[in-house]
Amino acid sequence: LNNTRVGIVVPSLGEGIWLPVMLFRPILTSRKHFKAESTDIILTIMPKSGTTWLKALTFSIANRNVFSIDQSPLLTSNPHTLVPFLEYTVYPDLENPELENIPRPRIFSTHMHFKILPDSIRESGCRIIYICRNPLDQFVSHYHFILQNKIENDAVPLELDEVFDMFCQGIQPFGPFWDHMLGYWNAQLKNPQKLLFLKYEDLKQDVSSHVKQIAEFIGFPFSAEEENQGMLEQISRLCSFENLKNLKVNKSGYFIGSIKNSSFFRKGEVGDWINHLTPAMAERVNNLTETKFQSSGLVFKM
Ligand code: A3P
Repeated sequence: LNNTRVGIVVPSLGEGIWLPVMLFRPILTSRKHFKAESTDIILTIMPKSGTTWLKALTFSIANRNVFSIDQSPLLTSNPHTLVPFLEYTVYPDLENPELENIPRPRIFSTHMHFKILPDSIRESGCRIIYICRNPLDQFVSHYHFILQNKIENDAVPLELDEVFDMFCQGIQPFGPFWDHMLGYWNAQLKNPQKLLFLKYEDLKQDVSSHVKQIAEFIGFPFSAEEENQGMLEQISRLCSFENLKNLKVNKSGYFIGSIKNSSFFRKGEVGDWINHLTPAMAERVNNLTETKFQSSGLVFKM
């Protein structure tokens, strides 16, 4: 399918996953060369589901003894710089990037489906944290992301209805949306020590308890003293949408190519879909979700 507006997406790896063509090679290279270590933390996410937020939180939790809150690298660096994507930043052209000197624990991220992760991630003792988001908000967030980063001179009009129809067919970078989630959900059911499964909506409701949960999961639990000093709340505030969005570093500059740093911070709300989708569209997605997640036990707050 030749659709330059969403990044060219084509079925890849013979496994029914839709990937931007520019990522074919980096993904194959990282699958071949990336050697996960047991202390690594791998953040895995469907795009527009909380990647930036999870990166900021995990980086701050794991490095809280290295940097004080007011000296945090998050104040001067975009979260995507601090926690690189395997496919966009670590393996864009290199087969063997320099990963030895990165301070431990190394934190990487990826949008890859569970079934195409590099084997060493599944096989080593490293930890995986997955965050997902309800499909309606993810779709709306992704649609705006495409609009904001629209390649100039792109002649093809970008209609919400059309992009929505593709989404329902599973056609989206790293789609189908539902399969992405189910892969990690099922993996987490099999091995909860290996994989922590989070939901954007739950974090929005209470971020501090998730800061604590993430810290325990990655083996950096907060001491009673840290908790009494309000460390959970300080990290939550540092990584909040309002704080990150308003930092100079996130208001300007580019992530890669024509993708603006600012486009990772739009509204940061649960339920914004209601301002963009019709009840019929919502019903179509809800029916799809019900069918796809049938008997999996996975449900969303919309
Ligand atoms: P909206 O477009 O709905 O505002 P990703 O980081 O996976 O690309 O996801 C981007 C979405 O997460 C955007 O959603 C963005 O505004 C939101 N987001 C970014 N940083 C956030 C934060 N610190 N807290 C909550 N939401 C955040």
